[in-house]
Amino acid sequence: MTNVVVLGTQWGDEGKGKIVDLITPSFDVVARYQGGHNAGHTVYVKGRKTVLHLIPSGVLHEGTLCVIGNGVVLSPKAFLAEAESLKKLGVSVGRNIVLSKNAHLILPYHPLLEGLSEDRRGSHKIGTTKQGIGPAYEDKIGRRGIRVADLLDLDVLKDKIRENLAEKNPLLEQGGIAPLDPDAIFEEFKGYALLLAPHIADVPLLLDDLIKEGKSILFEGAQGVLLDIDHGTYPYVTASNPTAGGVCTGLGVGPNKIQAVLGITKAYTTRVGSGPFPTELVEDQGKTIQERGDEFGATTGRSRRCGWFDAVPVAYACRINGIETVALTKPDILDVFQEIRICTSYKYKGTLLRSFPVESEVLAKVEPQYRSVRGWGRPLAKVSDFAKLPSAFKDYLKIIEDLIGARAGIVSTGVEREDTILLPERLKGIVDLAKVRAAQSR
Ligand code: IMP
Repeated sequence: MTNVVVLGTQWGDEGKGKIVDLITPSFDVVARYQGGHNAGHTVYVKGRKTVLHLIPSGVLHEGTLCVIGNGVVLSPKAFLAEAESLKKLGVSVGRNIVLSKNAHLILPYHPLLEGLSEDRRGSHKIGTTKQGIGPAYEDKIGRRGIRVADLLDLDVLKDKIRENLAEKNPLLEQGGIAPLDPDAIFEEFKGYALLLAPHIADVPLLLDDLIKEGKSILFEGAQGVLLDIDHGTYPYVTASNPTAGGVCTGLGVGPNKIQAVLGITKAYTTRVGSGPFPTELVEDQGKTIQERGDEFGATTGRSRRCGWFDAVPVAYACRINGIETVALTKPDILDVFQEIRICTSYKYKGTLLRSFPVESEVLAKVEPQYRSVRGWGRPLAKVSDFAKLPSAFKDYLKIIEDLIGARAGIVSTGVEREDTILLPERLKGIVDLAKVRAAQSR
């Protein structure tokens, strides 16, 4: 029994979907602990691309139990649409998907209120995915949220929708949006209640039972550490905790049940939405990375901002999450560069900073300090043996490892499961390599 957290160490889009899918055979359960359908986890299997937003990336493996925890905000409409599209691909989506009764629901007013809030911010807008994620979490903290369990008691559901709309409709009207009809929303959600009911469970109890039976759980994070509401680049963050602590609150699992945290780290940096980005490349090199890396949002289609690898935030992410092992993704995107830069530290007001500054105002003014390394000059794709990797790439990797204080246990060199180098010694106590390898070659 090994329970492992898999989380993104940058601003999201590190390639978590591929890695979760790859190592799922080593686990019995994959459990999402935060976020909502703002996430976009892309998985390729035998040339077929599947984008998951809400349902854990383990769903593509028959027999894996997929859990959506109380830390997630759930849009029933998005969930059912995703389940439907998976069914069309022949993926089973029945009792293998469990929803926490304590997860909060996203209602139709949430994206509308978010639109108004973003408009009000003008040039300071967050650049959210506009899925209603932030307003749903606001209602959770404001103690007026509507939860999955409320779908099981229609009288309660009706009252809560009315109470919420009494508060939200005036806000919508102030913003020039027509008020919403509580009866229409109730009817819509009554329909969802019927469809979701078979999936609803007491997740902390279920996970405790499974752990006692000796089952292994992969805790799947969405977004990334730098988008964490507490530890990210506030206010340009999402509204939940992608950091490892989110597992305990977002699923009801004790910290002593977690054996390891695997960080997913992209070989360069990307960011969607607003906020400071010290190593951003606004000219040709950024475009090259964007195009080669297909850096366009899986949820919104927005182009991602691209830049050199920045070790400062990744070292911070490793420190605050207890990450000792990372999976390095997409280094093959850098194949074409003769010279590759790595940001090693920041200077602020003439002084080297000791750690990553989370204050956006400071981060916007830091001067990144770079180290240049030579490119490896040949494609990394399809190399499956670490020893056969070019020495310039190994140098690049070693520099990154030393800077972030963690070692790579996985190097991903392409989108497919088999485009992955596994380093057995470094993955001990994290995954069962035999199971992963068997699935890789299927
Ligand atoms: P929200 O999560 O929709 O509230 O958006 C808040 C910030 O998080 C925005 O900058 C989004 O672009 C960013 N964000 C949300 N989800 C993701 C993701 O899955 N990948 C990358 N960025 C994301």
